[in-house]
Amino acid sequence: MQKMIAPSLLSADFLNLGKDVEMVNSSEADWFHCDVMDGVFVPNISFGIPVIQAIKKQATKPLDVHLMIVNPEHYFEAFAKAGADIITFHYEACTHIHRAVQQIKSLGVKAGVVLNPHTPVSVLEDILADLDVVLLMSVNPGFGGQQFIERTYEKIKKLRKMIIEQGATALIEVDGGVNTKNASALFEAGADVLVAGNAVFKSENPVETIKLLKMN
Ligand code: DX5
Ligand code: ZN
Repeated sequence: MQKMIAPSLLSADFLNLGKDVEMVNSSEADWFHCDVMDGVFVPNISFGIPVIQAIKKQATKPLDVHLMIVNPEHYFEAFAKAGADIITFHYEACTHIHRAVQQIKSLGVKAGVVLNPHTPVSVLEDILADLDVVLLMSVNPGFGGQQFIERTYEKIKKLRKMIIEQGATALIEVDGGVNTKNASALFEAGADVLVAGNAVFKSENPVETIKLLKMN
């Protein structure tokens, strides 16, 4: 199992985005987590294609684009062209998951499905083998800085069991309320990638916090 950290740029300083991208470049972080919100699927609006394009110009690590939007399949190509290396979309926002996953892969991008806190991991049983990533929401999507939902540990363990049983290769990513106190328990439960927004960007020393999250 891997121990990867994906700082969420939702908590970055948008007036100085280039500075925060450089910080992540210079840190031990593995991916840039980019939260795209449409104000329909989630009650908030963040940023979209032009901002991802700008980040891509400076980023030296993969862009992990988390789509919190309705009709995500209408935008896969645009986000792939903008520089996404991984695209994840919500199970709750898409009817034809299998087709959507194939669409993303045909663009040469890694594909992942995201589950809201209320959605059981069992819904992925027949698609798991096709996925590069499963993103488990450990808060209700829409905002940074929310409290971690403790029930997520059980979901990680169940999903890890499913992955092992099927011999699947999907990475388990966890998003929301991750910090230096719960990171080690999350990796221990079976997570491969931890997203961290506030914990990284609101800390006094983000580079050091990323290191701590990873070593924990
Ligand atoms: C929430 C987003 C998260 C968010 C995490 O809808 O998907 O990626 O930025 O922020 P923290 O780590 O502050 O909970
Ligand atoms: Zn996210």
